[in-house]
Amino acid sequence: MGGPGCRCDLNFPDHWPDRWQHYGASSRGRRSLSRLHWDWYQRIGPGAELLGGLAGRTVAELGAGASHQAAYVAAELKAARVIAIDSSVAQHSRSRGFYEAVPGLDFVHDDAAMYLQDHPSSLDVAYSIFGALDFSDPQTLLPAAAVALRPGGTLVFSTLAHYRTGAPPEMECRPADIPTRMPDGSPGTMQRWVLESTVWTKLLDAHGFDLVDSDTVHDPGPDGGAPVATSLFRARRRGRYAL
Ligand SMILES: C[S@@+](CC[C@H](N)C(=O)[O-])C[C@H]1O[C@@H](n2cnc3c(N)ncnc32)[C@H](O)[C@@H]1O
Repeated sequence: MGGPGCRCDLNFPDHWPDRWQHYGASSRGRRSLSRLHWDWYQRIGPGAELLGGLAGRTVAELGAGASHQAAYVAAELKAARVIAIDSSVAQHSRSRGFYEAVPGLDFVHDDAAMYLQDHPSSLDVAYSIFGALDFSDPQTLLPAAAVALRPGGTLVFSTLAHYRTGAPPEMECRPADIPTRMPDGSPGTMQRWVLESTVWTKLLDAHGFDLVDSDTVHDPGPDGGAPVATSLFRARRRGRYAL
């Protein structure tokens, strides 16, 4: 596959084969969101205010999946440009199929850290909703985000506050292998970083960000759903805008 927004020399040892091929494949397609959610069940907690005013801003979603949220940010929050980055071929092509016509929304098929490294000082805001920051090493992705964000730029992300089994998060920066479905339908694993809040706070500081605020959203779970707590972080890229 080729065209704008496509890195054709993709070589993602950690993401290949595409572990996201089956994820959301049976969903109904485009979604008209009534607001932005950061929490696991997409139903409670803070919303778009965490991103600040987006008029005239360039925004990237890191691990945008099918781009439901990125389309909302572009269409309803009126960012000047939204770049929906995803390393999965399946997710990238789903996004384009659903939201290609949304003005100001661009789709990039790439590893988020690689794209960010290649685009220094190009972004005002970056965010991730259980996206690339959950599934790639934050010690690589956070410094890359610091490269791509302009000084004073905003990083917002939501991530699991504990494993979905209820097990506590890691007290140091290390991933766990979690179950997934491989493209041929067989069971497989992929890495997920489920880290305690203080670990995230230290990582942000170590990689050029000042924490603005953080929060935990506790959802007791809908009918039949397990309780899940979501950790939310908002941070500012250290440094000042050059005048
Ligand atoms: C659970 S989905 C979340 C998508 C979306 N934010 C949502 O809530 O529907 C995680 C997405 O992150 C993408 N992803 C994981 N690691 C990535 C990376 N290093 N670079 C870009 N995308 C990545 C996956 O391909 C997947 O589409």
